[in-house]
Amino acid sequence: MVKIAVLVSGGGTNLQALINAENSGIIKSGKISLVISNNKNAYALERAKNAGIETLVISKKECSCPSEFEDKLISSLNERGIDLIVLAGFMCILSKKFTDAFEGRILNVHPSLIPSFCGEGFYGLKVHEKALEYGVKVTGATVHFVNEIPDGGKIIKQKAVYIKEGDTPEVLQKRVMEEAEWIILPLAVEEVSATIVKE
Ligand code: GAR
Repeated sequence: MVKIAVLVSGGGTNLQALINAENSGIIKSGKISLVISNNKNAYALERAKNAGIETLVISKKECSCPSEFEDKLISSLNERGIDLIVLAGFMCILSKKFTDAFEGRILNVHPSLIPSFCGEGFYGLKVHEKALEYGVKVTGATVHFVNEIPDGGKIIKQKAVYIKEGDTPEVLQKRVMEEAEWIILPLAVEEVSATIVKE
């Protein structure tokens, strides 16, 4: 079994989709063993506790520098023998030092069709605001490997979602989650876990 850590910052609906997928057998090659949040108030922590998953809070604000934050993350992950890291609404950009330490072992879900509306400054609701502002007719979600370039790693899965007349950023965010993120993230996690098992 691949030991999975999920890194979160907020509501944790993608974490919930992963927990549900493990319970329903969609994820069968891995086990969510740890949830780390940089925000002690993240509702995602409650979701993890309800599912009996170990939680850790590592606050960037309480670290003297970004490298101390990443060192704490790296040691927490290594101490537990984590094989795969899933960024599920984790609102921190990770440096090359971190991404090199887990090369090919970090996945991220992003709420647009990369390479549109991605990179530094494009996160959460902002992504949907920008998509509506631009006037695209189709958006979606992407799951990709994480490297040192924000949203720049190899794409694993994408799913398109149509924009509807009168969409607000909030309405669009919810549709992209329901129709794309919560579906492709568990599938990508299983696909990558199954590959790691065979290695
Ligand atoms: C999700 O839409 C996720 O794709 C996005 O934040 C939201 C987190 O929601 N992530 C990014 O924008 C990363 N660049 P959740 O906490 O309910 O899963």
